[in-house]
Amino acid sequence: MENGLLNTLTKNWQFKSTIRSGKFSETPAELFDPELKDYPERLLPFIGHPEYERLDEQTKQTVNSISWIAWNKRVVDTEELIVSPALSLLLTGDLELKLSGNYRGAIRQAIVDEYFHSHMHEITVQLTLDNRGIPIEQASKLTRQALLYREYKALAAQYSEQWQTNLILLIWCVVGELSIYEFLTFVSKDESIQPASRSLVSLHERDEAVHASVIEEVLVDNFDQFSREYTDFIEEILPQAVQAFSTVDWLVWEDVLSISGVSKAKEIIRDISTDLAISSSIPLNRSFIRIKRFCEKVGIEYKVFEEAL
Ligand SMILES: [Fe+2]
Ligand SMILES: [Fe+2]
Repeated sequence: MENGLLNTLTKNWQFKSTIRSGKFSETPAELFDPELKDYPERLLPFIGHPEYERLDEQTKQTVNSISWIAWNKRVVDTEELIVSPALSLLLTGDLELKLSGNYRGAIRQAIVDEYFHSHMHEITVQLTLDNRGIPIEQASKLTRQALLYREYKALAAQYSEQWQTNLILLIWCVVGELSIYEFLTFVSKDESIQPASRSLVSLHERDEAVHASVIEEVLVDNFDQFSREYTDFIEEILPQAVQAFSTVDWLVWEDVLSISGVSKAKEIIRDISTDLAISSSIPLNRSFIRIKRFCEKVGIEYKVFEEAL
């Protein structure tokens, strides 16, 4: 079986992917503008909290830079802890799924892309540290893994069979790959942040537009290889994956504040995380419309809460 769209995408990869096209430079042409932000201010959940507003400008700047570093860490965690291992499972793992031909080629290209994305995001973190004079030791205190990974680990720990933990990882990857595009465009289109960061994120975004098609085509075409037991399990865990990707990570936000030297970090986060008016106004930065379409195509029920659309 061959897939026409995948044929085109895999042939174009050498010209269009960021890693092969040479469009990414470790030394960006765009100058760092200290007046611009590193992370969009409108995405900081504590704006307006009196204890945050009381901070001096230097501390606010550090909070902004550490927020940007934390955002990039979340991207790298997703690539290295979820997406890359899950894509590798599609090639070599015990998944009831035997891919052949260009289905394998497309997945292999995506794995190469993902590791390069991690490299790109590490470069932007280093540029931020250098330009803002933040010591690496300070940024290295951001050790907590992203919520979406912690949630994956917590769910996987409840199951003893290897096929179950493999499928959980795969579904986390599917939800990530079919919803990351909006997560990236939210930042790449924001004119208040560094132009080099925006360029980097938009390169990543272009690759992810291809990945969304790749994941969908590969799984939809091969879904009939899954037994009823597997598809029932996928249907059961998919809403939990969507939840994990769309929940605000308050623990990381608290880390961001405390690592930036904000003594009332805990108090600020406690106030805003329990204030529904604030927590419900934080943009989701994800669209789950592709996941809904995917469910329709493979014939599994989409039981995800409607706001996630
Ligand atoms: Fe990626
Ligand atoms: Fe991807």
